[in-house]
Amino acid sequence: MLVAPSILSADFGKLNEEIKDICESGADLIHVDVMDGHFVPNMTIGPVVVESIAKVATKPLDIHLMVENNTFFVDLFAKFKPKYISFHIEEEKHPHRLIQKIKEYGISPAIVLNPGTTPKLIEYLIQDLDMVLLMSVNPGFGGQKFIDIYEKISEVKELCIAKNPNCLIEVDGGVNDTNIKDLKVAGVDIAVSGSYIFKQSDRKAAIESLKV
Ligand code: DX5
Ligand code: ZN
Repeated sequence: MLVAPSILSADFGKLNEEIKDICESGADLIHVDVMDGHFVPNMTIGPVVVESIAKVATKPLDIHLMVENNTFFVDLFAKFKPKYISFHIEEEKHPHRLIQKIKEYGISPAIVLNPGTTPKLIEYLIQDLDMVLLMSVNPGFGGQKFIDIYEKISEVKELCIAKNPNCLIEVDGGVNDTNIKDLKVAGVDIAVSGSYIFKQSDRKAAIESLKV
């Protein structure tokens, strides 16, 4: 299991130190949650802060857009050369076009599904994706309770096997050491985890506990 700590739960008063700390503690990716106050009822960070994160991070960035105008934000963040940009299918009228745009920037495209969204929406997109991000909480906040999406993980896994075996599955929301093994068995490749990792003083041990 690869681990992508979500910096939403970091101490933003000392963000640079927090980024360095998780990079040195075994993080595989740095998960960056971008919220616009419209698609979700919360706001987080914009390009000024992401630029500063990109400068100190020694691990690739995984940008999770929770915004209304995906194209605008892809153009805004592409210059920081993240490994992934993921956008919500619920908020995109032209997902195929946006996937191509992300690829043209040399970035790996991913689509996010909310807990109540059917994987059927990505049936004819999956061959163009490098990752599918499945939300196991409703997006907007860290520290929420994990929602059971195991059946959906299995459906997406089957879709990947049938159409794009290289496509990874990432899960985001309420991930901790009690559900990580079940997520692995269900077919998850990358675990996003915010509050579980950041509330522990020993981040190295916390990240290690998710590498099942
Ligand atoms: C929620 C965000 C998550 C969040 C996860 O909208 O996408 O990345 O930070 O936090 P935890 O692990 O605390 O649920
Ligand atoms: Zn996220």
